[in-house]
Amino acid sequence: MEERLAKVSCYSSFRGSVNAEEPISEPAHAREPPPIGIQQAVAAPGRSSLSKYQDLVVGTRSLPRLLVYEAVVTLVSWIPGALGLVLRKIAYPWLLGATGHNVTFGHGVVLRHPAKIRVGDDVVVDDLVVLDAKGTTNRGIVVGNGVFLGRGTILSCKDGDITLGDHTNIGFHCEVFSASNVTVGRHGLFAAYTYLVGGGHEFERADVPVLAQGRSSRGITLGDNVWLGTGTKVLDGVRIGRDVVVGAGAVVTDDLPDGVVAVGVPARVVRRRDGGAPPG
Ligand SMILES: CC(C)(COP(=O)(O)OP(=O)(O)OC[C@H]1O[C@@H](n2cnc3c(N)ncnc32)[C@H](O)[C@@H]1OP(=O)(O)O)[C@@H](O)C(=O)NCCC(=O)NCCS
Repeated sequence: MEERLAKVSCYSSFRGSVNAEEPISEPAHAREPPPIGIQQAVAAPGRSSLSKYQDLVVGTRSLPRLLVYEAVVTLVSWIPGALGLVLRKIAYPWLLGATGHNVTFGHGVVLRHPAKIRVGDDVVVDDLVVLDAKGTTNRGIVVGNGVFLGRGTILSCKDGDITLGDHTNIGFHCEVFSASNVTVGRHGLFAAYTYLVGGGHEFERADVPVLAQGRSSRGITLGDNVWLGTGTKVLDGVRIGRDVVVGAGAVVTDDLPDGVVAVGVPARVVRRRDGGAPPG
């Protein structure tokens, strides 16, 4: 993955991406980092609507970058058919932190803080996918070579990072959320409606709304070759080993070792894939 990262960064410079040499954010504009929660940011005093939009969506206060972002979104993002695919293949790399060769973007793909999104070679981003790298201190989203992101899938950062290993295939309407670090190994296969919940809320006090209490995130790590059946939920703090299969509808609340099949709510190991006795 380190090698691949270096590689996509080269592409960025090579292709003269508008953001290749620029810093990810310009903190000089604000003494306090801008809030990353939509509700807090919208209500925050002392900022114009435009600067809130720039902080939440574009990820920079740079006027040229705003203009390029608006031009791409307005003129290119929604166009159907082959023309749209061609135009987005040309224009989306102007926004992204790095883009490999042969990357396809469907229509209606939403990019937030695009300079913190790096995409490898031979990637397909299907219609209506959301790539949200929002945050003030994060590195953002890294999508490996040969990855497929299914229609309506959301990769969502809230000051966190998401890394998808090479050849991972994420089905329709999945969500990967990260408020710290969510890493998926190579050859991951997520069936539709899976959700990696890489962060949550403190809820110790019953007299204060949960939303007004602190946030917590320990992150999620999946090894290589993990298949998550449809509707699987993986909760914050979980580590799943390599070569693991998780049955449809499971809620994974605890770590899973290499090479097992786990099912149910909460997920329990039912067998080893090599035929051996399940651990413990
Ligand atoms: C887990 C799965 C892979 C089957 O694995 P398996 O090792 O062949 O499991 P078995 O069919 O032998 O079942 C083992 C036990 O787990 C139970 N089980 C299997 N799948 C289950 C599930 N999704 N949820 C709860 N229990 C499940 C079985 O009832 C059986 O229980 P029992 O021993 O009490 O009878 C399969 O059931 C599954 O969920 N596949 C995901 C399908 C999917 O989402 N496809 C999307 C396309 S990408």
